[in-house]
Amino acid sequence: MTAAATSAIRQTATPAGMIPEVRRPDFDFPADLPKWWWDNNPMKTLLLAALSSGFPPGERFFIDSVRYYQDRITDPELQKAIRGFIGQEAHHSKEHKALNGFLEDRGIGLGRLEHEIAMFMDRLRKLSPERQLAHTVAVEHFTAMMAEEFLLKFNALEEMDPRMAPIWAWHAIEEAEHKAVAFDVYKAIGGSEFVRVTEMMAVSVLFPLFSTIHLVQLMKEAGELGNLKAWAQGLNYFYGTPGVFRKLLPAYFKFYSPNFHPWHTDSRGLLAKAKAKWLSRLPL
Ligand SMILES: [Fe+2]
Ligand SMILES: [Fe+2]
Repeated sequence: MTAAATSAIRQTATPAGMIPEVRRPDFDFPADLPKWWWDNNPMKTLLLAALSSGFPPGERFFIDSVRYYQDRITDPELQKAIRGFIGQEAHHSKEHKALNGFLEDRGIGLGRLEHEIAMFMDRLRKLSPERQLAHTVAVEHFTAMMAEEFLLKFNALEEMDPRMAPIWAWHAIEEAEHKAVAFDVYKAIGGSEFVRVTEMMAVSVLFPLFSTIHLVQLMKEAGELGNLKAWAQGLNYFYGTPGVFRKLLPAYFKFYSPNFHPWHTDSRGLLAKAKAKWLSRLPL
């Protein structure tokens, strides 16, 4: 690693000692869980189901894009953080795969979505390693925003069936914990600002587009496409009141600043509260 890379690591805004902790909960999903386990609303439930279908192939890609550069990192703190990141994402994949299988057994076609997303990720693997890592950095910003600004700040978890909320709380907590690992690796290897920003532009089009297409497909398959009440409630939640997605915009635009760092948004207080509330409920 170059001297420039070393100094970039020392200048990171990641708080000292912020090493992602690998927890290994083993979730069990009960047979009597309501079909629409978030707010009794098919649109809100199926949006999260659609996101869940992308986690196993997506997180495998994130791990590989970081691992590619792992042996170039000499900062021991960042090395530890990388190991934590890989362990967390690997376990997210495992548990979401179990969740996806459970939902598939209940007639929600997530296997096909997972396969489609895996094929898309395979195409991304043809990009340069730097752009693959930039893709991970961009999606990690999306997941951190959704974790911090949506799942942990709003009442989404409280609106869920209490047997489904812990997997989302656990995932959100760990996404917030490791939100800067891929970013710090990207900076350490001297990743270009042009690639970082243009990859975010691409992700900003593709991620909402695929999520919307998948949501519409799942709603159609479930016979809920014409459920206007579900759509109205869901769209109001995300874009009206409280307007979760609308309120993400300031956090989203920060990414384009040349001085951006994920920890300029200090979420340690939010994390501490979420951990106190949820970690004791994990089936560890
Ligand atoms: Fe994850
Ligand atoms: Fe992540």
